[in-house]
Amino acid sequence: MAIPGETVEQILQAAHIEEVVGEFVTLKKRGSNLWGNCPFHNEKTPSFSVNPARNIFKCFGCGKAGDSAKFLMEHEHFTYPEALRYLAKKYNIKIEEKQQTAEEIMQQSLREKMFNINEFADKYFVDTLWNTEEGKTIGLEYFRERGYFDPIIQKFHLGYNPDSAHWDAFTEYARKNGYSEELLEQIGLSIKGSKGLYDRYHGRVMFPIHSLTGRVIGFGGRILVNDKKSPKYQNSPESEIYDKKQTLYGIYFAKNAIARQDECILVEGYFDVLRMHQIGIENVVASSGTSLTMEQIRLVKRYTKNITMLYDGDAAGIHAALRGTDMILSEGMNVRVVVLPPEHDPDTFGKEFSTEYVSNYLKENAKDFIRFKTELLLKDAENDPIKRGQVIRDIVETISVIPDSIFRITYVKECSRLLDMPEQTLTNELNKILRAKLKKTLGIEENVVPETETTTTPKQEESVEDQLPAGYYQERELVKLLLMYGKNMITDERLDENGEKVLEQVSVAQLIVDDLKADDFVFTNYVNRKIFDVFDKAIDEGYIPDDQFFVSHEDETISQLAADLLSTPYKLDQWEKYGIFVKQEEDVLRATVLSTIYRYKDLIIEERRKAIEEELKTAETAEDQLILLKRKKDLDDIRKQINKELGIVIAK
Ligand code: GTP
Ligand code: MN
Repeated sequence: MAIPGETVEQILQAAHIEEVVGEFVTLKKRGSNLWGNCPFHNEKTPSFSVNPARNIFKCFGCGKAGDSAKFLMEHEHFTYPEALRYLAKKYNIKIEEKQQTAEEIMQQSLREKMFNINEFADKYFVDTLWNTEEGKTIGLEYFRERGYFDPIIQKFHLGYNPDSAHWDAFTEYARKNGYSEELLEQIGLSIKGSKGLYDRYHGRVMFPIHSLTGRVIGFGGRILVNDKKSPKYQNSPESEIYDKKQTLYGIYFAKNAIARQDECILVEGYFDVLRMHQIGIENVVASSGTSLTMEQIRLVKRYTKNITMLYDGDAAGIHAALRGTDMILSEGMNVRVVVLPPEHDPDTFGKEFSTEYVSNYLKENAKDFIRFKTELLLKDAENDPIKRGQVIRDIVETISVIPDSIFRITYVKECSRLLDMPEQTLTNELNKILRAKLKKTLGIEENVVPETETTTTPKQEESVEDQLPAGYYQERELVKLLLMYGKNMITDERLDENGEKVLEQVSVAQLIVDDLKADDFVFTNYVNRKIFDVFDKAIDEGYIPDDQFFVSHEDETISQLAADLLSTPYKLDQWEKYGIFVKQEEDVLRATVLSTIYRYKDLIIEERRKAIEEELKTAETAEDQLILLKRKKDLDDIRKQINKELGIVIAK
């Protein structure tokens, strides 16, 4: 149920970061901040800081940063609503839940009934496995025969559904215990046939599927006889409590190990999970044969950013490894692949070899996904030039989904080596894809911009964050100034239409936004641009958002960057160094803002001029040259204008 927006705000304001963190980390005061050992990575000297004034934390070692809610999400693996509820409780804030409708109440009680009957079925299957003749000789024997020991069978609540004459042993038992036929059918434990209800899983060994919190949301049942007409596995249908795309088999038993080891091993089958747990490798979950979904990836991301896919050594296994990975990469996660020897799956591999051997095998054979894919495709393409071209596009396409530009650059370098292709060729190909994507997100149609514009305006090139672009640090500084001082008022000196000096009071945010927009400067970095756009829109609507707004922003890229930038103070007082003496705080701020804008614009203009000069060298017609020269002059005019406004003449 949704928490109303005002309450969210109230909770986040009431929460004192030092108190929230203080429950988990020992903090000591040093300067205006509190410091402690980072709970998110191993360290001996404290680099984890808490800033009570800004109500945020930041670790200067591993980079994690954010507000109270973010801390709890990271530390306790809460979802956002869970974190808010925790804080509400701690600060005695009552959450006025939305009034439930009659339908919602019915849904709620249906869900409860479903959990209930699953728990009932789970007990029955387990009891049948251990305490009935049929269960012991057929079900339990099957598990033991495959090399599973009792503790693991117990831990995962494995069970058995009898194979009675009418296939209705369980259904009968449930009916006797007061469960309705309708519910049995809805949850999928029973199926309606011509002679009435029968057990969906008759004669199968049972795997209960647990939610994150350990409740039974569904079942998988494996057949024990050779029957070509029946599928090997029968799984519960989806229901109000079982959403397949949100579920990973084993997550309840694996989540702590995943967080502790900062890695999640992904396998395909129920038995693969069991085997790994039995040999003591517990950070393992299964996608249960289907291809991975975004929801499953986000589930894992609550615990770690590192996924290792462990697949069968046959062709199908390798093919499966290629599926779904672009999705993982696009979530900013690190993907590695381990391929087992051809005759093995994780289950048989773990049965044949010792824990130590398996761990070492994983360590030694884990291959970074992009390298894995490149080598694999390259082997297929051999020396066929057309196929090679496809491989290159395919790989670059994969690289393009990675959100972090630094990683992208690293991969381009590596693939350039593997593919024996010049780095520049790959970079160009990558930029093409990124630019197309960017245009799509910005809603710009291809070909709307005249050809000459696209080829001669370097701004187009720069709007893609593929390298550390010109003005990168200045851009960050401007965002920092927006976040820290956006609301502060300063006196701005402008020239009116007649060239007369006028003084006016403006906010720092307004000054920066107006100034950049006036000369068509657009931030290169995507997150910076998002923050800039928020300010732009807010100013239009007559207000200026404060730092807490961004720190608690629902877009994680924004809240992370805000917390990051706000965690280090801005040095406003270094002007004497430049021979500029300013006394008033407002003057210091004004000078800082203007000079930062200036340095930023100057760098960008320099880039653009360079690009134009390059083009001039190859311009073919006199007309082209003229256009370019005109552009160059425009840039120089902007630069002069900036200098004038600043009152600083820079000799060039
Ligand atoms: P064993 O063959 O007993 O070792 O089981 P496994 O878990 O290794 O099965 P396999 O590798 O063939 O398949 C991997 C996963 O895909 C299984 O764990 C199931 O979740 C799913 N799966 C396999 N066969 C079927 C099927 O016939 N129907 C459905 N719905 N799922 C299946
Ligand atoms: Mn298997």
